[in-house]
Amino acid sequence: MSAPNIDTIVSLAKRRGFVFPSSDIYGGLGSAWDYGPLGVELSNNIKQSWWRWLVYERDDIEGIDSSIILNRLVWKYSGHEATFHDPLVDCRECKTRMRADKIEGKCANCGSTNLTEPRNFNMMFRTVLGAAAEEDDPTALAYLRPETAQGIFINFLNVQTTLRRKIPFGIAQIGKSFRNEITPGNFILRTREFEQMEMEYFVKPDAEHLKLVDEWVELYLEWFKSLGISGDNLQLHEVPAEELAHYSKRTVDIMYRYFPERPEQERQWEELMGIAYRTDFDLRSHSNKPVDEEGKRVNPDSTEDLSYFDETTKQRFYPHVIEPAAGVNRTVLAVLMDAYSEKTNDKGETRVILRLSPQLAPIKAAILPLAKNKPEIVGMAKAIKRSLQPVLRAVYDDTGGIGKLYARQDEIGTPMCVTVDHQSLEDEAVTVRDRDTWEQERVKVAELADYLQRRLKATSPVQPVAGTSSLEI
Ligand code: GAP
Repeated sequence: MSAPNIDTIVSLAKRRGFVFPSSDIYGGLGSAWDYGPLGVELSNNIKQSWWRWLVYERDDIEGIDSSIILNRLVWKYSGHEATFHDPLVDCRECKTRMRADKIEGKCANCGSTNLTEPRNFNMMFRTVLGAAAEEDDPTALAYLRPETAQGIFINFLNVQTTLRRKIPFGIAQIGKSFRNEITPGNFILRTREFEQMEMEYFVKPDAEHLKLVDEWVELYLEWFKSLGISGDNLQLHEVPAEELAHYSKRTVDIMYRYFPERPEQERQWEELMGIAYRTDFDLRSHSNKPVDEEGKRVNPDSTEDLSYFDETTKQRFYPHVIEPAAGVNRTVLAVLMDAYSEKTNDKGETRVILRLSPQLAPIKAAILPLAKNKPEIVGMAKAIKRSLQPVLRAVYDDTGGIGKLYARQDEIGTPMCVTVDHQSLEDEAVTVRDRDTWEQERVKVAELADYLQRRLKATSPVQPVAGTSSLEI
């Protein structure tokens, strides 16, 4: 099973320290959330898995980390100043403000059709640079980035020349993005501050772009499954031509079933990520060479030409781009929803078990003393925790009876519990309990680290296929 709805996950996340409402002591800040001790581990593990998969295991992708605040001209030439907006309407009856494209002509709050005409609202967050700048000084205006992608495009030549890369190759980046969403909501699904994992894959102008989109869709489906997400909860959505972003010739969204409680004909699915064919739009529009029909430079502000010279064909061109763009927060939510399960014990009590893939579990092993009033047992348990820590993330806990401690670890997805008991003092062995089966095994302390590592690996889902593209580009 997976979670019956997002609310179940909100409650678990707050109760167990995955995610807290932000600024709660001041009444909160609409749709802002803070990651707690377990949430930050889960989110870091997802990001590490992604980075390892793309940057380390493949031979054709480099990583970067660019600034959040870029020169305003980046957003002029990327097209975001002119086009990055949503249509906004107000309900004249209840004064609710909404996105016109999400409501089918009726107020989402009161159902009234008495709405204002839609008007465009630019979603980029504005700020001013410099201590002396006035709020409305246009020369000081800057934006918080609404996508990490532009930081990659403006660094294309830096990476290509310093790393001596040949097309095809990709540049990956993980980082915060900001959008002044009109209707944020549904927990961490739509927030104004969020994190993206984006990769721009640069290919030749005559590559099979549309096929490459399909290829990246397949690779990402496998990656999401390797994180433990069931294929039944993933679906593809070909974005219709009239809804494509200004830079895209084709976009396929991978959707997740975030709303299983809704009837099937209503919107159960929401975008987890998108894979777009961005053509050469961005590199070309940030370059100083291209001219319009009248021979005028399209970008008189750029100092660079971001074209690429192909040594083998002796041709110069603007590389085309396939862009898989995923959200960290939406992946965290999908992983939590998919891992959620309930199990009834012999006493008839229902327990929550978070069946997280071991690679993502915030804590890999909990070391639990059977008696916390026995200094020898406590000392041995703490020593085991310390010895495991360099190898895997382990915690020590003695804040309850053993049944309660097991239940707490099950609820946060810890794959293994290690119990130290009276017998351990005699035989230098401990009991290892499995989260999913509740089966127990006796293991020698000297062999524990190897044993746990082996078990964690064995229960990890199949790793996705790594490597470079199989298509001739
Ligand atoms: N560079 C292309 C781009 O940014 P996007 O579809 O607008 O494409 C990519 O965003 C991903 O970023 C989305 O699929 C989603 O996972 C995440 N994302 C976008 N807006 C978000 C928001 N307001 N809150 C949380 N995640 C968001």
